[in-house]
Amino acid sequence: MLQHPDRFSNKILSIPPNLDAPKMIPIMLDPPEHRAYRQLLRPWFESKAIEHLEPRIAEWTEGLIATIKDKGECEFVRELGSRLPISVFMEMFGFPLERFEEFRSLVVNFFDVNRSDEERGGYAMQIMGLIGEAIALRQAEPGPDVLSQLVRADFEGRKLDQGELMSIGFLMFLAGLDTVTNAMTFGMRHLAHDEALRQRMIDDPDCIPKAVEELMRRYAFVATPRYIVQDTVLEGVPLKAGECILAPTMMVGWDADLQSCPEQVTLDRPTCKHAGFGSGIHTCLGIHLARLELVTFYRIWFARIGHFHEVDTGEPAHFRPGSVMTLESLQLGWTL
Ligand code: HEM
Repeated sequence: MLQHPDRFSNKILSIPPNLDAPKMIPIMLDPPEHRAYRQLLRPWFESKAIEHLEPRIAEWTEGLIATIKDKGECEFVRELGSRLPISVFMEMFGFPLERFEEFRSLVVNFFDVNRSDEERGGYAMQIMGLIGEAIALRQAEPGPDVLSQLVRADFEGRKLDQGELMSIGFLMFLAGLDTVTNAMTFGMRHLAHDEALRQRMIDDPDCIPKAVEELMRRYAFVATPRYIVQDTVLEGVPLKAGECILAPTMMVGWDADLQSCPEQVTLDRPTCKHAGFGSGIHTCLGIHLARLELVTFYRIWFARIGHFHEVDTGEPAHFRPGSVMTLESLQLGWTL
């Protein structure tokens, strides 16, 4: 499905199909239109281009860990997991960090599946408002951030118009915040119960990039929708044009034909195949940034805190279903 945009389109990414959903560039575009925007954005997301963010990510991680370390426990999602990616995003796009809490609450509310469509629409409008303000600010006063560069960029001999800028900004907002939080939370929950892997990450921080990939494979959490353009048959199942279908990206990493014992998390696989960052032309543009955030986070966590465990709160774990799955809270503890 992800390899055939001619049959499985990205133009509607909601189930059931919602024609009024805000347009997001480039994820809601099909070929050939998608390519030019992807080419425009790619240079800011290549590994070389984001390398310079590493010291800032490390600084924020150190700061966040310092606020919880002496307590010996934390609610990971609220106190750490959701905070780090927001700071990174805000810095990258030139948003003032003083508005951190406002940003955070909008992201949390927008992704909350318990909200009605109307409520979510309201949050989307507020997010758009913030992005619009940031664009106006950067048009008047350009800085070194990605948004300022986008405002001035040459796109096929012209500047991007307001609608295009808003639409790119909205996607970056949604794609870069919640996802990294979820990857960290699922990863930390696993690690809380896997002492051998924790020890390996403490003893040999060079294995952390491999651990990040293996945890992404085991706990891939995105199921991305596609809109069926023409009647087609998939694995014997007839699909009707005009319907939407969900591609559960986790099934690639869990495929026992691609790797043995896929339910196990191990650093000793010859290769780690997964589609947690998607596949095909829409493969995650933020993949290097996400990996950099995750690797930096684990490196500092293990250096400052070391071993930790999941605290039994007596409550069942709350998972948020949907196309981007989440573990809503995770209580962790460690020995002081
Ligand atoms: C662990 C974190 C992340 C995960 C698991 C993830 C996952 C994904 C997946 C599965 C897709 C493909 C969706 C589809 O085919 O419909 C995607 C696309 C995308 N992601 Fe990510 N993402 C992450 C972090 C980020 C970050 C940090 C950014 C940037 C700030 C970002 C920006 C994007 C963009 C712009 C696209 C659309 C690319 C296109 O249409 O060409 N993502 N992501």
